[in-house]
Amino acid sequence: MSRQILVTSALPYANGSIHLGHLVEYIQTDIWVRFQKMRGHDCRYMCADDTHGTAIMLRAEKEGITPETLIGRVWDEHTRDFAGFNIGFDHYYSTHSDENRELASKIYLRLWEAGLIDVKTIAQLYDPVKNMFLPDRFIKGECPKCGALDQYGDNCEVCGATYGPTELKNPVSAVSGATPVHRDSEHYFFKLGDCEAFLREWTKSGALQDEAANKMQEWFASGLNNWDISRDAPYFGFEIPDAPGKYFYVWLDAPVGYMASFAKYAADNGLDFDAWWGADSKTELVHFIGKDILYFHALFWPAMLKFSGHRLPTAVYAHGFLTVNGQKMSKSRGTFITADSYLAQKLNPEWLRYYYAAKLNGSMEDIDLNLDDFVARVNSDLVGKFINIASRTAGFIHKNFDGKLADGVANIELIGDFQAAANTIAAHYEARDYAKALREIMALADRANQYVADEKPWELAKKPEAVYRLHEVCTVALNCFRLLTLYLKPVLPKLAGEVEAFLNIPPLAWEDAQSLFIRQRINAYSHLMTRIDPKSIEAMVDANKQNLEPTPAPAPVRHAETQVHAAQPATAIPKSDTPVSDTISIDDFAKIDLRIARIANAEHVEGADKLLRLTLDVGELGTRQVFAGIKSAYAPEALVGRLTVVVANLAPRKMKFGMSEGMVLAASGDAPGLFILSPDSGAQPGMKVK
Ligand code: MSP
Ligand code: ZN
Repeated sequence: MSRQILVTSALPYANGSIHLGHLVEYIQTDIWVRFQKMRGHDCRYMCADDTHGTAIMLRAEKEGITPETLIGRVWDEHTRDFAGFNIGFDHYYSTHSDENRELASKIYLRLWEAGLIDVKTIAQLYDPVKNMFLPDRFIKGECPKCGALDQYGDNCEVCGATYGPTELKNPVSAVSGATPVHRDSEHYFFKLGDCEAFLREWTKSGALQDEAANKMQEWFASGLNNWDISRDAPYFGFEIPDAPGKYFYVWLDAPVGYMASFAKYAADNGLDFDAWWGADSKTELVHFIGKDILYFHALFWPAMLKFSGHRLPTAVYAHGFLTVNGQKMSKSRGTFITADSYLAQKLNPEWLRYYYAAKLNGSMEDIDLNLDDFVARVNSDLVGKFINIASRTAGFIHKNFDGKLADGVANIELIGDFQAAANTIAAHYEARDYAKALREIMALADRANQYVADEKPWELAKKPEAVYRLHEVCTVALNCFRLLTLYLKPVLPKLAGEVEAFLNIPPLAWEDAQSLFIRQRINAYSHLMTRIDPKSIEAMVDANKQNLEPTPAPAPVRHAETQVHAAQPATAIPKSDTPVSDTISIDDFAKIDLRIARIANAEHVEGADKLLRLTLDVGELGTRQVFAGIKSAYAPEALVGRLTVVVANLAPRKMKFGMSEGMVLAASGDAPGLFILSPDSGAQPGMKVK
């Protein structure tokens, strides 16, 4: 029976480029959608850019353009990148659309009617220069517990204390550099706590992976907080109905963007919106997301849908994060690879699709793109095994049989085995275990190659009496090749299209696996896929190194509110009451062992918002690990290789994340910004600083 399935990928933020990390998700989803379509199901793939929020507003302002212009430009870039990787959205929209405004407002009003919206006055820090309320991430100051400088408004990286932004000492706005003031404001809250019974029930519906359902139990155990869904003007987003100057928080209208994308598509294609989104819809709704946004999709979103009278997701499938060569993507190593830079090297997008598919197993585990393994795997599987079958046999059909396949095949056992695999392979695709599907397919490819190697058509071709055998062997091999193409088609749609043209057949659907490929005329074989030249991988990595921004890049972030793009202070606030320090003797000073250190490595610390873990080469003193609260000012990759100054004889300190064996010197003041010291050129690691 044909299913109706609406599939989504998470909506990428409209303030950054698509990179290979994102593509894990879009490729994973696209494969699933293409598979469903090949099975004959009515499957529609919806997506959009996620365009709202403070970060986009400020970035547009910094570029001197309107947010609308910015998101228009990014939409063009995103859709071009996705097309470059053969991601076949049925509709790619924007959350900044009339449909989304209407739907978000409607859902909100229904939640209001259901008594699920609370209005409360809360005090927040306000930037009196910029005239805006400051989200936590736009405020820095001193930790109220330990006094550490340059801490964000939510918790201290140095002592681990958590607090509210209003408790920070000497707070500074990261937008203008001004000292924020306290100001009251009314906020709108979605009473998530009231939805707990429903959500607990929903957890058992089978919509979630086991790992995700377990995560939900943790969230229930720690209690569901009501969710602040409003932001004060100025904000780039939708104004809340009957609440002038109040805007929906970006994460309120973002998932509604799935619906809005479909609404526009439905209107353009004559589909009945309610049949897909109404409370008793018989269709399936499947969301693909990264594990970092599970909270939004497994708690807020189903609750919003349920209590606004809509259908619920059939499935929320979360995947893990991409690492490159076993590490977080890194700009200095050139492994923060943009989609665009991959395509610019003329690398075939289907190589990446194949490699990701070979790694994806439907779980929330992270997946690694090992660049050497990538080259080896693609060359061996796709070119060495798959394409090889056609390139070794198709020529004989042309030369000896005028391009026509045999009228029948006596030995169809091998083909029968290939056909019998269709159900198993389909089950793996359905379960998103593409790794298993491809293992199965490659095992078949091995058998086809073995068959060709055993039958040796090139020798048969030399014996006139073996002409029938030759015809049959090549026909069997091309039957195998056609079936492998069919099974690989969700992963390699473009290549499959080229094979279809070469074999002179209509687009392959899953049910075609059961037919024989005989008697037909095929076109001349021309080479279908080249090997990856490792040099173009090197060139791509180099190109991404050159992309390194001269100014420190912002730390990678997950949620819209935290996406500050190097917001530069407009004004520095001079300190009027600078205390004069006590004097120390030269002997006191001599106690401090200051040394030149080379930053051998710098990396993010899992769970730490401000810290970087530095590995310092201190010459004769060896290497040291130091945790430095400089993440806000430096991307780790911008630091590797730099010289700086370290206090080498500071007593080691045990921190939440490990031992810190020294301290790197950096300048900071009341104005935002943090500047690590570096010696003039020529200084060597280990040199004393006096
Ligand atoms: N705008 C939100 C999603 C709103 S959905 C209603 C968002 N955008 S994002 O651009 O940061 O991420 C888009 C998707 O890409 C997310 O599902 C995210 O998990 C995924 N990925 C982003 N970086 C990734 C990796 N490095 N690895 C794997 N997936 C990654 O979140
Ligand atoms: Zn502290």
